[in-house]
Amino acid sequence: MFEKLNWKPVGVNCTSAVKMTDESDKSNCTGIHQHTSHHSHEHVALSHNSWNAEDYEKKLKAMNYNGPKLVAEQFDALGIPNDSKIMDLAAGTGLVGSALKDLGYTNIDALDGSVEMLVAAKERQCYQNIIAHFIERDTKLPVDDHSYDHIIMSGALCHIDFENLPQIISICRPGGIICWAIGQSEDLIRMEPKFSDGRFEKYVNSLCDQNLWEFLPGFPKNVENFAMERDGWVYAMKVL
Ligand SMILES: C[S@@+](CC[C@H](N)C(=O)[O-])C[C@H]1O[C@@H](n2cnc3c(N)ncnc32)[C@H](O)[C@@H]1O
Repeated sequence: MFEKLNWKPVGVNCTSAVKMTDESDKSNCTGIHQHTSHHSHEHVALSHNSWNAEDYEKKLKAMNYNGPKLVAEQFDALGIPNDSKIMDLAAGTGLVGSALKDLGYTNIDALDGSVEMLVAAKERQCYQNIIAHFIERDTKLPVDDHSYDHIIMSGALCHIDFENLPQIISICRPGGIICWAIGQSEDLIRMEPKFSDGRFEKYVNSLCDQNLWEFLPGFPKNVENFAMERDGWVYAMKVL
């Protein structure tokens, strides 16, 4: 049913990318703030091994993937002000940002490890800042701590190792919400064995035990038709 999607490696063609408007970042021909470290696989993710945006959206259509719309609706139902500063993490081609924009949100940034995906996201014109950064264990995200009111994700935590959640929490202000849509465990285990034995749920709970966040009442919520006619979950955690 759910398979790990295998994406063709593609190069990043800077000449086809959108021009910067920000004076301070003229060296960046994509209009996307790129953050690289000396870690070799990060360079690979940012330059040669990016996801193929066109292929991605075709495959999602075939899967009837509704995560972006579902998470945006649940997030909006929390009564969050439209001008809140929101980070769409693992934003891909911008489907979550676009769903939020349709709901009236005006201050959204995007971060993803793939420049190719972010170039497509930029075309959706729903983001203020777009950051290319490959999230990895024990590496801080390239934004200030507590600098976002809220964080939103869909289809992210089966790709980004969920043990990166503490770095993700650290960029959200105390009292902010981290909200994500994710598939059911049986489907996730098929993609990523790390989800077996309830390890993801246990990890989320362990961060509650460390007083990093708490569940908003009523979450996680079962949502219908996440993808492939299968239900999924929307989580909403309040950062402490
Ligand atoms: C399934 S897509 C989800 C995209 C978008 N949120 C959506 O719902 O359409 C997963 C995204 O995660 C990004 N990604 C995977 N691993 C990552 C990492 N370690 N750091 C940053 N982005 C990563 C990929 O580049 C891809 O765009």
